[in-house]
Amino acid sequence: MGSAHTLLTRRSWESADVTDLVRDQLALDGDSERILIHGPRAFLAPQSTLALALVLHELGTNACKYGCLSARSGRVSIDWVIVGAEPALHMEWTERGGPKIRAPTKRGFGITLIEKSLGGVGGSAQIRFESRGLTCRIRLPLAENGGRDSSASPPVDAAAIPSG
Ligand SMILES: Nc1ncnc2c1ncn2[C@@H]1O[C@H](COP(=O)(O)OP(=O)(O)O)[C@@H](O)[C@H]1O
Ligand SMILES: [Mg+2]
Repeated sequence: MGSAHTLLTRRSWESADVTDLVRDQLALDGDSERILIHGPRAFLAPQSTLALALVLHELGTNACKYGCLSARSGRVSIDWVIVGAEPALHMEWTERGGPKIRAPTKRGFGITLIEKSLGGVGGSAQIRFESRGLTCRIRLPLAENGGRDSSASPPVDAAAIPSG
């Protein structure tokens, strides 16, 4: 939370780059070999930046408490692409190598926050508890013109994204 505000303040409330945001929120224990981050440059509007920061922070906290980062061998990968003319960010959070998990009997505040807080900025997040690890699919509109870096590769078709 503090970190998201720092990022926004540093950029004078301009839009923030997704890679910076992800790195910022997941500097959990400096264990970068277990946190695999991969995606093109993409810029989010300030409100979306804050919302995504909260979501990533909670995903990271839960991964440390219950998921792949609670085990030595576990890893999380965060991959995203920019899709469509709008454009939109399609991000996949994938935990692997942690303890075998089961869907919880009740959803707590954290899961609810993750799944609900992107709605206010036109996005969504969908968590799935697979036995080999939690996954989260994030969809978020990018800042106008946005998101896209002129040197980046052309948009990919949404159907080409692996569903995990
Ligand atoms: N990354 C994860 N891997 C496995 N289980 C998880 C993960 N994140 C959440 N859970 C499960 O979902 C439950 C609810 O999580 P959450 O809503 O954040 O509440 P809390 O963290 O307070 O328990 C957790 O108690 C845990 O059982
Ligand atoms: Mg939690």
